[in-house]
Amino acid sequence: MIREIRLWPDPVLRRKALPVEAVDASIRTLVNDMFETMYAAPGVGLAAPQIGVLQRVLVLDTRPRQPEVEPLAMINPRVVATEGGLSVYREGCLSIPGEAEEVERPAVVTVEFLDVEGRLQQLRCEGLLATAAQHEIDHLDGRLYVDFLPVLQRLSMRRRAKRRKLELPGNEQGQSTAL
Ligand code: NI
Repeated sequence: MIREIRLWPDPVLRRKALPVEAVDASIRTLVNDMFETMYAAPGVGLAAPQIGVLQRVLVLDTRPRQPEVEPLAMINPRVVATEGGLSVYREGCLSIPGEAEEVERPAVVTVEFLDVEGRLQQLRCEGLLATAAQHEIDHLDGRLYVDFLPVLQRLSMRRRAKRRKLELPGNEQGQSTAL
């Protein structure tokens, strides 16, 4: 089922999501809905708070840029290691349609998470996958990529976002690289 994507400055996007206690059928339904919602948008990543669910769940599919990377669902993900330098990527966000800005993040991260079967996994992420995983994990902590930008720039983006929300209630078409 496609869920409604919450748009900034919806306060739910600033809340901290809670760890998933048991990976059960309701979590698998949530994951399926999140994939469906992300593909429909379309985007390459989505975190549960973006559909108003405060649980530590995210989905990623960076195949538009990284054909070798399988779609991923991560439950209770956390970055356990970073390597290398920083990389800059022009990030968008499905909750902030019509905007994209360059953000600097560690180029390579290892993420530990539970898969949809409840098994503990570790994955070394590079390129867009590294950027997207960090962007989505930030969503689980109520952080948005705009927080990395200078405050005046963030405020003018926020004004535009509020105006856009009034003009276009409901979901707006996303971007193929939106996270
Ligand atoms: Ni986002």
